[in-house]
Amino acid sequence: MKFDRSVKIAPSILSADFADFGAEIQAVEAQGADWIHVDVMDGHFVPNITFGPSTCAAIRPHIKTVMDVHLMIAPVDPYIQAFADAGADVITAHVEAGPHIHRTLQAIRATGAKAGLALNPGTPAEAAAPLLDLVDLICVMTVNPGFGGQKFIHSCVQKVTELREMIGDREVHIEIDGGVDPTTAPLVVAAGADVLVAGSAVFKGGSVENPAPYGENIRAIRASV
Ligand code: DX5
Ligand code: ZN
Repeated sequence: MKFDRSVKIAPSILSADFADFGAEIQAVEAQGADWIHVDVMDGHFVPNITFGPSTCAAIRPHIKTVMDVHLMIAPVDPYIQAFADAGADVITAHVEAGPHIHRTLQAIRATGAKAGLALNPGTPAEAAAPLLDLVDLICVMTVNPGFGGQKFIHSCVQKVTELREMIGDREVHIEIDGGVDPTTAPLVVAAGADVLVAGSAVFKGGSVENPAPYGENIRAIRASV
């Protein structure tokens, strides 16, 4: 994975057909996705359950781009190796998920994966300050994690501006997750974000049989920024 700050669209398979992840991933990649965002939820850290490392391993061969795994689980540390073994390129953990985020980020990097740090809407940018040299990506949640299709929380845009300033010339991506569409994408890109996760805004109107809307939706987000 070579670092650059160009805008990347990362469809979240949370909005895909759960019975057909392989074909859905191939369809969105063919329609222009830059990364594939994979939401892991445990029903404990967030009020929803998705899937774990074995599903990640099963979908890995279908991903040609970047497998971006967002862990909404607590605890994180006992499962890091399993997600790395499943082939994750980026493993993101929440600062709110436990008392030892510094150790967690070190453990992620020790596997060879890129380390991501996610901040919930209620967590200030300062929470990332002691960790800037340990991360490859900061994920700014612009909804409360757990579900797709929620409304973008505008007060989070200021946090992106603050993080961009704090990051300076470090090679750290700023990822936005939640409520990204052609109306909100320009706000966060102007503030310094480069990875745009989008679930409902990419998958709406399309399917594996009719993937053209995926491409239209991706191009609409790209054109907006
Ligand atoms: C929310 C997930 C997101 C979600 C985004 O907890 O982390 O990745 O899929 O969905 P949209 O784009 O529909 O807000
Ligand atoms: Zn996510």
